[in-house]
Amino acid sequence: MDGQVNQFSFLNSATLYPSIARLSLDDQFFDLCCGVRTPIDGNPPAIRYMPQATYRRYNHDYIDHQYGLRRMHVSAQQSPKYAYFEGKIVPFEQATVSIMNQTFNYGTGIFGGLRGFWNEDEQQLFVFRPLDHFARFLGTARILTFDFEYTPESLRDILLELLRTEGWQTNIYIRPLAYITTNAIGVKLHGLEYSVCMFSIPFGTYLPSEEGAHVTISSWRRVDDNSIPARGKITGAYANSALIKTDAANAGFDDALVLNQDGHISEASAANFFMVRNGIVYTPPISSNILEGITRRTVIHLLQEEMGLSVVERSIDRTEVYLADEACFTGTGVQISAITTVDHRPVGTGEMGPIVAELRDLYHRVVTGRLEKYRHWLTPVL
Ligand SMILES: Cc1ncc(COP(=O)(O)O)c(C=O)c1O
Repeated sequence: MDGQVNQFSFLNSATLYPSIARLSLDDQFFDLCCGVRTPIDGNPPAIRYMPQATYRRYNHDYIDHQYGLRRMHVSAQQSPKYAYFEGKIVPFEQATVSIMNQTFNYGTGIFGGLRGFWNEDEQQLFVFRPLDHFARFLGTARILTFDFEYTPESLRDILLELLRTEGWQTNIYIRPLAYITTNAIGVKLHGLEYSVCMFSIPFGTYLPSEEGAHVTISSWRRVDDNSIPARGKITGAYANSALIKTDAANAGFDDALVLNQDGHISEASAANFFMVRNGIVYTPPISSNILEGITRRTVIHLLQEEMGLSVVERSIDRTEVYLADEACFTGTGVQISAITTVDHRPVGTGEMGPIVAELRDLYHRVVTGRLEKYRHWLTPVL
């Protein structure tokens, strides 16, 4: 899986997140795609919160009071068969680059994360908002001064070709990457060659869960716009996310909210944050060092247009979260996950609230093509 001795695969965690090469492939994909311990592929309902004393983590094993020792991972048979690499679709094993590669060495890559949802009734695979994802991807390329001919449309067409070659008939996760192809020592962005690659893997179905995430406030701070811009999905910046996530997991939490440099809530390790207080929904503004999430944008629209709620984008203090009636994460990986405790304090009743529950249901219907009005957000593959 990790490629040959002097080469590495694009599915290798070190490629995706260069500074955390020691974490396993499964760790990366689980953490990236699930964000919180939401069940995948037939696992039991989301695990209950486990006090630190009874919580142990051995790679992917965890002890669940109800189910005993469980293992959560993306299994080997879920490997892609194909990748888009160096301008064409190739067998996945051929998509490798040198260990001298610039992006591998310095974390100067760009990545995206999209989902495809299989609609059994229509026998159709729908990719959710690909043009928006690729527009953000190319925006990050602009920040990093990657000189590309690609457009969101051309990247979407490459993705469709890849997915038709793969022939997935299940829910999937899609990973585009832009990287510097030059093999040389020397940290810089200019005067180099750049390329795009892409692969997809089957990914667990969205199973609404009655139970939510147990989170803490991270002792780490979010990367700042004037250090490594969080609004871009820059591979090296995800060392920050990995520190946030792993320290939260080691302390027995599902994930953490992280403060920006001025002490306000930014987001989670790989998801945006929303909370409800007195019937109004609040989320940090895009100037709070957040990734400008496509799910966030979708959720703001659904809350306002479909649920008739006011959504206010403003700085959020830590203790406001403690007083929230409801809260959730949003993201391509976590989708919409209820947060039910923060630093051991129950959010509202300590159970998923009615607004988050309705939003989850609505979102699920939208992404699987069951709401005609929002079919324009979906691109059919087949
Ligand atoms: C740091 C971070 N914030 C937020 C998100 C959610 O963004 P999106 O909804 O576009 O997936 C992600 C997604 O991967 C992320 O990595």
